[in-house]
Amino acid sequence: MRHLENKIAVVTGGTRGIGRAISLALAESGAKVYALYARNRKNAEALEEEASGKGLEIMTIRGDLSHEESYKQSVAHLQKSCDRVDVLVHSAASGVHRKAMELSVRHLRWTFDINFFAIHKLTLDLISRMGPGSRIIGITSPGGTRVIPRYAAVASTKGAMEALFRHYASELAPEGIAVNLVCPGLVMTDAVKALPELEIMLDKTLEYTPSDKLTTPEDVAGLVRFLTTEAATQIVGQNIIIDGGKGLFA
Ligand SMILES: NC(=O)c1ccc[n+]([C@@H]2O[C@H](COP(=O)([O-])OP(=O)(O)OC[C@H]3O[C@@H](n4cnc5c(N)ncnc54)[C@H](OP(=O)(O)O)[C@@H]3O)[C@@H](O)[C@H]2O)c1
Repeated sequence: MRHLENKIAVVTGGTRGIGRAISLALAESGAKVYALYARNRKNAEALEEEASGKGLEIMTIRGDLSHEESYKQSVAHLQKSCDRVDVLVHSAASGVHRKAMELSVRHLRWTFDINFFAIHKLTLDLISRMGPGSRIIGITSPGGTRVIPRYAAVASTKGAMEALFRHYASELAPEGIAVNLVCPGLVMTDAVKALPELEIMLDKTLEYTPSDKLTTPEDVAGLVRFLTTEAATQIVGQNIIIDGGKGLFA
């Protein structure tokens, strides 16, 4: 189904992991996709190559969204390229993996700059290009509401993001812009491979996942894609968990 034909999508963190799968899913649905990334040019080039081989339109834009100058350049590039934005997906994230008591204010500020303030700045800078039928989708984490070891910094940004998105949803729904969050369980990406507790988390996740399989980037992308369809128009302000049922367990 190419329901996004002639539509424009912007995906932050769109060249790697979950964001990459989202860029491909939206492009396969017909969208022209602008995939933003920070520094890993190789992944970006590989994605552009894969897309063009499949006849899909994915353009990558390099820029650290947490760095003022770099952010300005990325947004200027986007604003010049897109006269409108139909789908905005906030997937980029980074963070310091430490216990709360080991976090300095500097660590927290750095994590908030990319996972929270960049989201708000980009939303404000693109909102005038969005209108009835547009979608804003954020990727959050179970850490936004629960404890994951050494995840205090990212978890705090996800909790803040969830609060902000509730307000986005209620303010933008009257304009026909549907805002939602997608909350994946553990997905094997580079970000997760760097976690100190990976082995334990993996064992526990598989033990307590009723569907008996890990969630994949493509599973998450499929849900994001669904949220961009006509059928999802009335879904507003939700935080949709996609984890094979793991979150059912206490
Ligand atoms: N993986 C999981 O288990 C899981 C679970 C729940 C929620 N999530 C959420 O899902 C989203 C994607 O996670 P992932 O695991 O796919 O991450 P990932 O593989 O680490 O990819 C992160 C992406 O964000 C970009 N990025 C990072 N810092 C940036 C910055 N300062 N400016 C611009 N772009 C930046 C990266 O660009 P470069 O390639 O250039 O570094 C990359 O494209 C995140 O919001 C994460 O919190 C993940």
